[in-house]
Amino acid sequence: MSTRLQELDEIEASIWSELEQCVAQRPRAERGEPDADEPPHEWRVAVLATVDDGQADARSLVLREVDAAERRLVFYTDARSPKVRQIEQSPQGTLIFYSRKLGQQLRMQVRLHVQTTGLAVSSRWARLQTSAGARDYLAVAAPGRPLDAPLSDLGVRGHFAMIEAMAETVDWVELHPEGHRRALLGGHASRWLQP
Ligand SMILES: Cc1cc2nc3c(=O)[nH]c(=O)nc-3n(C[C@H](O)[C@H](O)[C@H](O)COP(=O)(O)O)c2cc1C
Repeated sequence: MSTRLQELDEIEASIWSELEQCVAQRPRAERGEPDADEPPHEWRVAVLATVDDGQADARSLVLREVDAAERRLVFYTDARSPKVRQIEQSPQGTLIFYSRKLGQQLRMQVRLHVQTTGLAVSSRWARLQTSAGARDYLAVAAPGRPLDAPLSDLGVRGHFAMIEAMAETVDWVELHPEGHRRALLGGHASRWLQP
């Protein structure tokens, strides 16, 4: 994204393409390769804000999958985590992505959906089960439960869950030496905004 695109539909397409690429480009450390000095794409970790009984809540999550055509993003979590209960009660959320390198922030309004069973979940769990990441979903204690010691035990059953986020609009901010720009992107709703 070195050239400054001028058309809103081009900007929107380039954002989704960048999100797809950032998931596809797994850093060397994640691929288990040494000398992992390649920095991960900054959009690989998003902040997901949810509603917790009228109170705002937010946390960092690793972006796992992006379907640009469907405007769909996927995150993985523990089915017992507080965010899952929050999403089941209030499916509206906001995702924040910021990249200093790109000078861009995405503030995405999303509808959230948690899946804990079914083919989509079992196929991803089958892939994940053999990786080091599997232990995140095998802890006996639910996330947030107080522990007497820093390390948790491993159980035999996974608590893997998928969080799907369907993007409704994207509030895009670009910080640039020649002038900041901001736009609301999302189908027919797209328009320029005062930064
Ligand atoms: C860089 C980073 C990446 C994280 N990625 C995930 C993730 O992909 N899934 C997840 O459930 N928690 C992830 N976490 C932990 C969450 O931020 C959070 O602490 C945890 O999920 C509990 O959130 P909750 O209490 O809102 O459910 C990550 C934390 C950091 C710092």
